[in-house]
Amino acid sequence: MNDKRKFYLTTPIYYVNDHPHIGHAYTTILADVLARYHRTAGMDTFFLTGLDEHGQKVQQAADQRKVTPQEHCDSMAPHFLDLWEKLHIKYDDFIRTTEPRHKTVVQEVLQKVYDAGDIYHGEYGGFYCVGCERFYTEKELEDGNCPQHQKPLEYITEKNYYFRMGKYQQQLIDYIRDNPDFIQPEHRQNEILGFLRQELGDLCISRPKSRMSWGIDLPFDDDYVTYVWFDALLNYVTGPGYHADSQQFEKWWPADYHLIGKDILTTHAVYWPTMLFAAGIPQPKTIFAHGWWLTADTKMSKSLGNIVNPLDLIDQFGVDPVRYYLMREMVLGQDANFSVESFVKRYNSDLANDFGNLLSRVSKLIGKNFDGIIPSPGEYTEAENEVLTAAGEIDGKLQNLIEQLRLNEAIEETLQLIRGVNRYLEQTAPWKLVKEDRAAAGRVLYTAAEALRIGAVLLNPVMPNRTAVVMKTLGASSFDLTWGGLPAGNKLQAHEALFPRIDLKKQARKKPAASKPVNVITIDDFAKVELKTAEVLAAEKVEGADRLLKLQIAIAEERRQIVAGIAQFYQPEELIGKFIVVVYNLQPVKIRGIESQGMLLAAKRKKKLSLVVLDNPEVGSGASIS
Ligand code: ME8
Ligand code: MG
Repeated sequence: MNDKRKFYLTTPIYYVNDHPHIGHAYTTILADVLARYHRTAGMDTFFLTGLDEHGQKVQQAADQRKVTPQEHCDSMAPHFLDLWEKLHIKYDDFIRTTEPRHKTVVQEVLQKVYDAGDIYHGEYGGFYCVGCERFYTEKELEDGNCPQHQKPLEYITEKNYYFRMGKYQQQLIDYIRDNPDFIQPEHRQNEILGFLRQELGDLCISRPKSRMSWGIDLPFDDDYVTYVWFDALLNYVTGPGYHADSQQFEKWWPADYHLIGKDILTTHAVYWPTMLFAAGIPQPKTIFAHGWWLTADTKMSKSLGNIVNPLDLIDQFGVDPVRYYLMREMVLGQDANFSVESFVKRYNSDLANDFGNLLSRVSKLIGKNFDGIIPSPGEYTEAENEVLTAAGEIDGKLQNLIEQLRLNEAIEETLQLIRGVNRYLEQTAPWKLVKEDRAAAGRVLYTAAEALRIGAVLLNPVMPNRTAVVMKTLGASSFDLTWGGLPAGNKLQAHEALFPRIDLKKQARKKPAASKPVNVITIDDFAKVELKTAEVLAAEKVEGADRLLKLQIAIAEERRQIVAGIAQFYQPEELIGKFIVVVYNLQPVKIRGIESQGMLLAAKRKKKLSLVVLDNPEVGSGASIS
């Protein structure tokens, strides 16, 4: 036994065929929150996430972009890494399936399973879904469509390598029955047991290179590669050092949790355990499948194109509120509906009104009545009972809930504590009390401040940044949940409003229209555009067109005329002598019968416009811009 208990959890490794979206963010934040809880509880924690880089859809995405699959992966990985940084994800390891350490593991396991006789060469036909990167049998289809993607599937036959998955059917059924925690929540376990009532076939694990080469070479036949599932699932053992470091591997394996979405339940609860049986590796403790984030009851997904960019939410409202919302709003195991309205509602009620308000009350009252010095509580009385009892019980309650992954309830319990403190403040009214009984007011304010510290400690895994502000304001450094961790006599620090209320109507007035999707072009596309500097020699209004100005410009020795829709923003005379930027190689057009030979660059937002002008006119006209 280790002297310190260990906790190893994983997220799926995400496909790099497209940018990360809120679904990916959700599972990864969930893992991060759980990892933080366990670290805080003193457990030795290993949190693994990463990217699934092989397979047909990654190859297709690369082909479309006219880059190699590896180049495609290398350019996509930073999008995930940046998002994890932005979301304050503190992973311990980030794995990419194209890394040598992983390829070695995959090949080693393939060879082992092959040598044991559990992989054979044969011909197979099935309905292949590129979205899922797996075959379906006819029975599994829904009206001829993939049950996940609702798209018609192509029937493919080819010679391939097969893993004798069917051989392990009974062993798997027995294992699931004997280990009720193995597949969670329970209804997912029943789903898998239901699935296993039908005969389990063998699993196609290869692709002939002639058709799809973006995978890991089979060690026993280099005309073939393996990809996605036999490749991807093994990341969970590569991470903790299956091949590289047996001591580390023994320390971490088996995983405590594989967190996944319900879309990949079968691959995790059937393919993976049978692979592990064949490879002689112990089973993970729990495979936990959460539900989907939906918008208007439809799954948010790349293939459906209805994804919400989590970065937009973060830029607008901050990281911590987004983490809070995602964790508070989803009952693990069920689907949840995402909407900006529900986000704002949750934010305003829990964060602005309850949590933020408590900090602002405590700091204002202590600031005003005790010179910002946290008063000593003295002897507690009956009035503090409720708060003290709640604060004393909460740690145990939360541990229990978190062990069962009932995170939304754990958060709600914490909010109950905070609401209780707000009520206590209203009942004891320290702002009045201070005039009659200063010591009593001090006791109330200490009690509120200490309960606030405990609330911040409990919410720290969910909102690491904002809770740090609370701790800093209180001058608190102890994350101990025992009552009294906040030293009386601390000087409060100034702070900004923790969670300023969101007024959606005001936002709508203030906020620029939802940002347009960026139309990505390649550097080659951009290189086609020639931009040059030009000097405005003359400018005049266009008769009968109150938006247009006609400019005579010099581009080095060359003279040109352009027509631009800037008359509402600039008087002709103020333009003369300015050095502007024009698109030089634009096909000339006639605007109101006047020839325009190029286009000038201007920045526009709502009713304001600004020409792009040189801040160093000595560069002169005719300079190329790159
Ligand atoms: O399946 N709601 O990768 P993937 C909640 N590479 N979670 C969601 C979601 C949604 N709407 N959409 C996606 C793969 N997710 C494979 C996995 S693992 C060895 C290989 C989350 O990019 C959820 O965790 O399609 C889901 O299981 C995962 O993203 C799928 O990510
Ligand atoms: Mg998917």
